[in-house]
Amino acid sequence: MPTFEIGERDFLLDGRPFQVISGALHYFRVHPDQWADRIRSARLLGLNTIETYVAWNFHAPEPDEFDLTGRRDLGRFLDLVAAEGLHAIVRPGPYICAEWDGGGLPAWLFPSALRQAQDGAGSGRRADDSAGGAAGVRRHDPAFLDAIGTYYARLLPLVAKRQVTTGGPVLMVQVENEYGAYPGVPDDERAAYLRELVRLTREQGIDVPLFTSDQADDEHLSRGGLPELHKTANFGSRSTERLAVLRRHQPTGPLMCMEFWDGWFDSWGQVHHVTTPDQAAGDLDDLLAAGASVNLYMVHGGTNLGLTNGANDKGTYLPITTSYDYDAPLSEHGAPTAKFHALRAVIAKHAPVPDEPPAEPGPAPEVDVVLDHRAALADVVPLLSGPVTASDAAPTLDDLRQWSGFALYSARVEADDEVLVVGEVRDRAIVALDGDPVGVLDRSAHLYSLPLPRRAGTLTLLVEDRGRVNYGPRIGEPKGLVGAVRTARRELTGWRAAPLRVEDAPALLAGALRPADGSPEAAAVAEAHGGDAVAAPVAGPSFHRGTFDTVAGADHFLRLDGWTRGLAWVNGELLGRYSSQGPTATLYVPGPLVRDTNELMLLELHGAAVPRARFVAAPDLGPTEE
Ligand code: GLA
Repeated sequence: MPTFEIGERDFLLDGRPFQVISGALHYFRVHPDQWADRIRSARLLGLNTIETYVAWNFHAPEPDEFDLTGRRDLGRFLDLVAAEGLHAIVRPGPYICAEWDGGGLPAWLFPSALRQAQDGAGSGRRADDSAGGAAGVRRHDPAFLDAIGTYYARLLPLVAKRQVTTGGPVLMVQVENEYGAYPGVPDDERAAYLRELVRLTREQGIDVPLFTSDQADDEHLSRGGLPELHKTANFGSRSTERLAVLRRHQPTGPLMCMEFWDGWFDSWGQVHHVTTPDQAAGDLDDLLAAGASVNLYMVHGGTNLGLTNGANDKGTYLPITTSYDYDAPLSEHGAPTAKFHALRAVIAKHAPVPDEPPAEPGPAPEVDVVLDHRAALADVVPLLSGPVTASDAAPTLDDLRQWSGFALYSARVEADDEVLVVGEVRDRAIVALDGDPVGVLDRSAHLYSLPLPRRAGTLTLLVEDRGRVNYGPRIGEPKGLVGAVRTARRELTGWRAAPLRVEDAPALLAGALRPADGSPEAAAVAEAHGGDAVAAPVAGPSFHRGTFDTVAGADHFLRLDGWTRGLAWVNGELLGRYSSQGPTATLYVPGPLVRDTNELMLLELHGAAVPRARFVAAPDLGPTEE
């Protein structure tokens, strides 16, 4: 059987030196019908290996569920990598960062939630709420390690049987992720935790080399690994200098940049990040010329489909955009970019590269859609709502066992309450009084209070988790309303709260949306648009649906100019969030979702003047720094 080892100087494949030239491609960010295409394009770039993280929460939405089918069929993904003649690297976490919801850690994992599950459903607030973070996470904690043992036992057998040592593609497996960057853990506990992960990994039959990866500085590299595990480093520039730093911590064996950042991720409200092809090419050239191995992060970024995006919070909460294009060599829709050609030319200097560039896709079909069916969210709450919890203090989303998305809270206010002040809102709440708009609480904007109309009534808060933090000490923090909710004269009590299954809206609301045409507003707007058949303006939160005919199987780019914020589905598949904040102005619609006749559905949280949407010829990821 083949072997893969870490030699004195090099990686050794079947005993011969092997330079790993790899690219990151997350199966969970790409439609499964497109996996083969993206893997093939990666090979045409000159790569010999594909690396993927495994997002634990993608497979385990609840503690007793584990799904390895369809989009989650990692075994099939690895088989496609092998079929293309490529090797594989697997990074199963348990924590992955990756700008993914919670860094891949399931929200049900965090001790507070575990405790609550053990106690049965409960109410009341936890003492550590406002501090953020969660004790036990990424530590040598029995409950955490026990859950990892179960996760590995469900996941790793499929990796074990695809190891190079059994004739499969998998060359090596990572333990943890940039653990040196995780604060607050004493050194001896760090080592004990990592050793336990190694033991749990080996227990599942993983016999290929294990490694760690850390940011390329002394502090991270010295804290993130174990003497007995091979160390790799993550960086996107100054290759020669960074390899020298890595060498100080990994005195023998091959040097590898496990994440060569050839682009960067985007956050809502910021510019679209790009790096020049020349810069990436120059740094890659230095790496390969030094004989180092590399994993391009990313070769193809893909999309945070559904509600899967993570967030950063270093003082200001910044959720990641739906697009994870990453300015990678293969664009979000899999097209080779200028960077692809620049990196391919560099790789060709050091290794054989197939003499066949990937196909350049043409423009996408352009289609206008009128969203002529609608329903106010308030009118369909019973169809979307999970069980209602009544409690004195406002629960968190985690208390409601709502691990992502939305929940609806309500409480009674009196005329002299005057102002609403929340300890924290994670991450946004649209506030109404007896159905009339009051305003918005917003964590990113540090907006934690609102004046109230001077009348008594039922206050509702539509609370949105915009993505769980994926990096740093806030991993594992609870979502929803956190801390006391007060008015001018008291703490608000008598709460009712329920999770909303908004992500399943197309199925749950199939018959509930009504034609908007014929209303007086519709007639007025139609007139303003020269008699066009246009439905009434959009006042959210509300659902909107329209149908459109187009080219089945073709990629599309949905542009929602004039809309504000919300979610978009095509044929019942949640594409992700849209936001007028930008930078991204288009949502990618993978071709496999598209039929001859299609349904577009939106949840608009705020408003739009005209209920029209457009599919445009090309993506628009927004303004860059320049
Ligand atoms: C680090 C992490 C990755 C990713 C990148 C930034 O290197 O290890 O998961 O978050 O940063 O894209």
